[in-house]
Amino acid sequence: MRSINPTQTSAWTALKDHFNEMQNQQLKDLFKEDPERASKFSIAWEDFYLDYSKNRLTTKTRELLLKLAEECDLKTAIDSYFKGDAINQTENRAVLHTALRAPANKEVMVDGENVVPEVQEVKKKIEKFSQAVISGEKKGFTGKAFTDVVNIGIGGSDLGPAMVTESLKYYQNHLNVHFVSNVDGDHVHETLKELNPETTLFLIVSKTFTTQETLTNAMTIRNWFRKSAPQEAVSEHFVAVSTNLKNVEEFGIAVENVFPMWDWVGGRFSLWSAVGLSISLAVGYANFEAMLKGAHKMDTHFKDADFKENIPVQLALLSVWYNNFYKAESEAVIPYTQYLNSLPAYLQQAVMESNGKSVDRNGEKVNYQTGTIIWGEPGTNSQHAFFQLIHQGTKLIPADFIGYKKSLHGDTDHHQKLMANFFAQTEALLQGKTGQEVKKELEAQGLSQEAIEKLVPFKEFEGNKPTNTLLIDKLEPGSLGKLIAMYEHKIFVQGVIWNIFSYDQWGVELGKQLASNILKEIEDKNINNHDSSTKSLLNVFLAQK
Ligand code: F6P
Repeated sequence: MRSINPTQTSAWTALKDHFNEMQNQQLKDLFKEDPERASKFSIAWEDFYLDYSKNRLTTKTRELLLKLAEECDLKTAIDSYFKGDAINQTENRAVLHTALRAPANKEVMVDGENVVPEVQEVKKKIEKFSQAVISGEKKGFTGKAFTDVVNIGIGGSDLGPAMVTESLKYYQNHLNVHFVSNVDGDHVHETLKELNPETTLFLIVSKTFTTQETLTNAMTIRNWFRKSAPQEAVSEHFVAVSTNLKNVEEFGIAVENVFPMWDWVGGRFSLWSAVGLSISLAVGYANFEAMLKGAHKMDTHFKDADFKENIPVQLALLSVWYNNFYKAESEAVIPYTQYLNSLPAYLQQAVMESNGKSVDRNGEKVNYQTGTIIWGEPGTNSQHAFFQLIHQGTKLIPADFIGYKKSLHGDTDHHQKLMANFFAQTEALLQGKTGQEVKKELEAQGLSQEAIEKLVPFKEFEGNKPTNTLLIDKLEPGSLGKLIAMYEHKIFVQGVIWNIFSYDQWGVELGKQLASNILKEIEDKNINNHDSSTKSLLNVFLAQK
């Protein structure tokens, strides 16, 4: 992939000028001027309908953003991404989560070898294993069927599977799935309290099998398990997902109980691999496969659709527009379904670990903004929490609203109320409420002129707040796969435009290093040289012990 500083492109300069024209532009005026606006700025694709007309853009903005994508050579970058080029240059790796959902007859070459047959083989293993556990054919050490599954992992080895199993809870079978991630012992001990070792299966999920949190939790769980089970039972109850077979074996897990993964799958993009074993166990392999198929459809759309009609490309370019020209620092993701409760947390890793970079592909410090801050909560809960700030605060917060035409439980009353809120919020954010409108309302309530004058400034809404609305038919494994892949590709496009490497995460290393030094100091009760703040904090901590 070429290294192109986006700010040196002619599109960037044109966007800067265009931004000056757009700055005072009101969204509601754009809607008044153009009755076709909604259809001009929307994309209908399969069971997705994206309306991005409630954004501060015109056809000129879109043209310039598309030109920026062209000048940043996005087309070639997408080809490299899908072809298996080593686009993760600082780790010299391909980035091929897309190969995990490619059809069996597809060829994806890594270092001269087609990786698809290997992927298919692991998928078969996932299928067979899931079926054996779900059907009760595979039993625990006392001959009882499994009732519980514990996923032990952190970051990409936790957030993706945890988010998906929660999102697909409607499709879940009888197995209870738990997730232990934090090295905080309270997490593991609270989880173990509910469990019976005879009927619990443990999945140790760690790409590297070196992660402190995961190994500590795995060790604690194994010790707990061994209190009531013989050594031979370990192999019946513990399986691992990892690239590091040596460490897995050293941990005491037999090779046949290992589900392999590959270097070319980034942790935060790995839920499509055996890292998603807990998903397949919770909802069955057929649903897991349907999710992969959905993701593959989004891959094809992203790869082949014209950029103007391309959902991830449009979302990414809009995000660049707000991040780099309007100086918006964050983006909210508001799913109008309780099932997607963990989507924002999942996206925080996917987006922020990928694009939280300040050095470009030449190793130079960037002089423009990169990765956005992602946050959010489901609607309608978030309306009663932080929406005040989005409506009337001082910050510009572009937001994605995700809603479904059909509810899963089929309760029309609830669903209509939910969706009325969904539509009302984006309309309110767009329209706002003028002082005149507020006045009229208060007059109708019979307030005195003096009281009205005092209240108007507080009850006014500026409006003009940008939102994307994504309306999907139904929350199903396939549409969930599409949704996750949509965000993955948005992240990719942003990384290309910002000319950064999205697939490494060196920024997490320093903290790990220092923590390991400090752990030794705490264990030895011997505090070394630190800044005076850290040193006194450590001394206070040790004095407490
Ligand atoms: O937080 C850093 C990180 O390396 C993530 O990228 C990764 O998802 C997580 O740790 C867990 O890593 P592993 O799967 O190797 O245990």
